[in-house]
Amino acid sequence: MKPEIELPHPPAVVWKEGRLWLLDQRRLPTETVYLELTRFEEVREAIRDLAVRGAPAIGIAAAYGLYLGVRNAPEADETGFWRELRRVAERLSASRPTAVNLSWALQRMVRRAERMKGSPLSEVKEALFQEAEAIRREDAEVCRRIGEYALSLLEDGMGVLTHCNAGGLATAAYGTALAPLYLAQERGWRLKVFADETRPVLQGARLTAYELMQAGVDVTLICDNMAAAVMQRGWVQAVLVGTDRVAANGDVANKIGTYGLAVLARAHEIPFYVAAPTSSIDLETPTGEEIPIEERPVEEVTQGFGKRTAPEGVAVFNPAFDVTPAEYVTAIVTERGIIRPPFAEGLRRAVGTTE
Ligand code: MRU
Repeated sequence: MKPEIELPHPPAVVWKEGRLWLLDQRRLPTETVYLELTRFEEVREAIRDLAVRGAPAIGIAAAYGLYLGVRNAPEADETGFWRELRRVAERLSASRPTAVNLSWALQRMVRRAERMKGSPLSEVKEALFQEAEAIRREDAEVCRRIGEYALSLLEDGMGVLTHCNAGGLATAAYGTALAPLYLAQERGWRLKVFADETRPVLQGARLTAYELMQAGVDVTLICDNMAAAVMQRGWVQAVLVGTDRVAANGDVANKIGTYGLAVLARAHEIPFYVAAPTSSIDLETPTGEEIPIEERPVEEVTQGFGKRTAPEGVAVFNPAFDVTPAEYVTAIVTERGIIRPPFAEGLRRAVGTTE
């Protein structure tokens, strides 16, 4: 399963020389710096502080983090090893609450280890490493498939609006929502992409605009409050976003501002598509109401990137995500096909299918 397209930007998550290298996305687009991690606590901090971000990428990083957390555990103490495995998994799982890929990847790792109970611990450790590698490799393939399906919803010449960053930097390869844009570029299509800046952390400006430009995609950066005007001018024929968690009824959690875009898209009769790997579908969460929404430090709003732009002591509400009700979603694009409303059955089928 080799990625077909070489992306021009550096990869978000790399395993090399027995270490985890995470592209420090806080420093993009001006600096390309990798964090070199050997301890699970460092991985936990990197996820919490957004050095690595985007639902699939944090799942992949956490999988390697779990391996790092137990790789030096004494092999003579069987009980201690399994206790430590669970402890590290729980600590990593708590690093960010909304993206379900985090617990999805960690549970998959723990299940892999548990299937080997009774084997020498050296072999369990090796299996954990191999599982993290598999999660990373499979994600690249999942992205490519999502790209193919999503491309079938687009046409040459369209204007496409996206929010936050659901691109190569958020995954092992091409991204989810951005994957069809890369495929379109490969095929010589001329799409016009509008990237929302995505306050307060500016993933759209710093990451999406950066990676699309590197690939030569025609991208125009807009502030979040410009989306309505761009739609009103008739420049957008599809909205395409990623997700951190899809509830069993099709409600979609994604970067704060996504819900507003969905409402705007409905008002302008523009289709609103969500690219969702099945690892982001959470059938155990019945509706969006039960999805935990992360709230982040107020400084992101009052002095993002260093300069104070609000009075000291002002009250701030800073949720990192919102929930778009399923009724605003035109289709959910997974690596196993396109799901149309009503979503419940299609989501169940997609998660249940292993091909
Ligand atoms: O806070 P972030 O940058 O981790 O938020 C990322 C998003 O909201 C993405 O749209 C989502 O994780 C999908 S990434 C393929």
